[in-house]
Amino acid sequence: RRFAFATKSKSVATMAAEYTGNLKHQLEILFDESLRLTVPDETGVEIKVAASQPGIPGDYQCNNAMSLWSIIKGKGTQFRGPPAVGQALLNNLPTSEMVESCSVAGPGFVNVVLSSNWMAKSIENMLIDGIDTWAPTLPVKRAVVDFSSPNIAKEMHVGHLRSTIIGDTLARMLEYSKVEVLRRNHVGDWGTQFGMLIEYLFEEFPDTDSVTETAIGDLQSFYKKSKRKFDDDPDFKEKAQKAVVRLQGGDPIYRKAWAKICEISRTEFATVYQRLRVELEEKGESFYNPYIPQVIEELNSKGLIEESEGARVIFLEGFKIPLMVVKSDGGFNYASTDLTALWYRLNEEKAEWIIYLTDVGQQPHFHMFFKAARKAGWLPDSDKTYPRVDHVGFGLVMGDDRKRFRTRAAADVVRLVDLLDEAKTRSKTALVERGKDKEWTPEELDQTAEAVGYGAVKYADLKNNRSTNYTFNFDQMLSDKGNTAVYLLYAHARICSIIRKSGKDIDELKKTGNVALDHPEERALGLHLLRFAETVEEACNNLLPNVLCQYLYDLSERFTTFYSIHQVNGSPEEASRLLLCEATAIVMRKCFHLLGITPVYKI
Ligand code: ARG
Repeated sequence: RRFAFATKSKSVATMAAEYTGNLKHQLEILFDESLRLTVPDETGVEIKVAASQPGIPGDYQCNNAMSLWSIIKGKGTQFRGPPAVGQALLNNLPTSEMVESCSVAGPGFVNVVLSSNWMAKSIENMLIDGIDTWAPTLPVKRAVVDFSSPNIAKEMHVGHLRSTIIGDTLARMLEYSKVEVLRRNHVGDWGTQFGMLIEYLFEEFPDTDSVTETAIGDLQSFYKKSKRKFDDDPDFKEKAQKAVVRLQGGDPIYRKAWAKICEISRTEFATVYQRLRVELEEKGESFYNPYIPQVIEELNSKGLIEESEGARVIFLEGFKIPLMVVKSDGGFNYASTDLTALWYRLNEEKAEWIIYLTDVGQQPHFHMFFKAARKAGWLPDSDKTYPRVDHVGFGLVMGDDRKRFRTRAAADVVRLVDLLDEAKTRSKTALVERGKDKEWTPEELDQTAEAVGYGAVKYADLKNNRSTNYTFNFDQMLSDKGNTAVYLLYAHARICSIIRKSGKDIDELKKTGNVALDHPEERALGLHLLRFAETVEEACNNLLPNVLCQYLYDLSERFTTFYSIHQVNGSPEEASRLLLCEATAIVMRKCFHLLGITPVYKI
């Protein structure tokens, strides 16, 4: 990121204020100014500031000296090697209350020690102005997150569950960063399978109008039965093929039957979304269908489309097979729809960042149509410049048997709703074993069981690097030890109870009290709190929710260390320490919120 000193009229202080809460950027602004003073002629250099590795003195490090040296050494510079460049960067650093001291190490690394007073003040400010002042600033206004996206009448499987959970978190992180997010459910509601589904519906329920969800029962088995008939009965097959044509031609009776089938699927999907508290707006494949011809025409006029074995395709460098955009029978496919949806999102919806979530198996599809879009000039060549597209691929969900996750009833896939219900039931059992049914009202018990159960499923998925496969294991995810949602939710509840037990009015304390970070454990906790904004920003930029999970886990570890050494209630430092507890609880809750997990306050 460049802080473009083209705007010399803005003072360093004003610029830094725009990044309240983001330590890294505030330091980058200072170093950028120093860079300008150190090497006035070098305008294209990007400042690199990073949190220091453990064991290195200082909190942050500026790593520019070496690369800067290699740029200037041939140009008759006054400096004698990287350490001198580092020293100059240090000398020219504008004075700032955030910096306590600096030193140069090795080949010109500038180590920065932050001022503990300034850190304490920043935490006080957050306590008064709210955690939203720590939200990252991203260079986009509107984004599309294309996630969940199951297929009508087919099963919504654990892959879709992963897509839903990861997609929701990414959407939440962008929303927190003040990006308007269009949460798109790109359901598979178009295609040849609808011919057989509609025809089968007509045969089974001649009176289509009065067909209810209960009459059809399970859409998946309905799909299977119609598929069997399609494969076994040539007459039926022919009718089904005609049905597709009539549907696509807009015949109202066929459209109505199609709408009915979609409606039933939608109700089924909604039960999963409702449990997960995930909001999505459906714009299925059918939505883009009317726009496909004009988009194909645009690509054609740009000379991208060629004929190949009767189909129309786009040849792309680096791919062995071309991208088919019109099938040999003239029909459109997954790729034609995705190219058109991309066109629509860029041009009609004015999205600057479009993010797709599916399993990694679909990666070639995405990379191919992204490439076609670049070729058409819709997207810049570099993939980190905006408008930007990303395929966020994720690994498989495995069972304990190391095979793809399935239910006990071998071949049958897990019904997602049952899976979530089981997580809740198990967490309720654990609470009852701990006697909570006697302490709490039935509502409290139920709400906690739900927050913990669903939270556990989500966290178990999000904490892994998404590209790896992960093993679905109830016992592991519901354990109260280790890096689990249960452990973290309990840690948060414990902090809340420390504050409650103090008997102090915490809101009053926020106005009058001061935070002090005098002891190493207090300071370490404070520093970790202050790294929240840059962590969320990193998680957004790299589309990695596990970065935020790791941050949250580390935060609870820092807190535990602090709390195991320092007394809070009844100590002379009580006010300051209670404020640190409160700040930790606030940041933890924000993390839970971004991960789609409901916090609990009592355990
Ligand atoms: N319906 C697809 C599936 O279940 C996922 C769609 C993902 N989104 C997209 N724009 N292709 O595999």
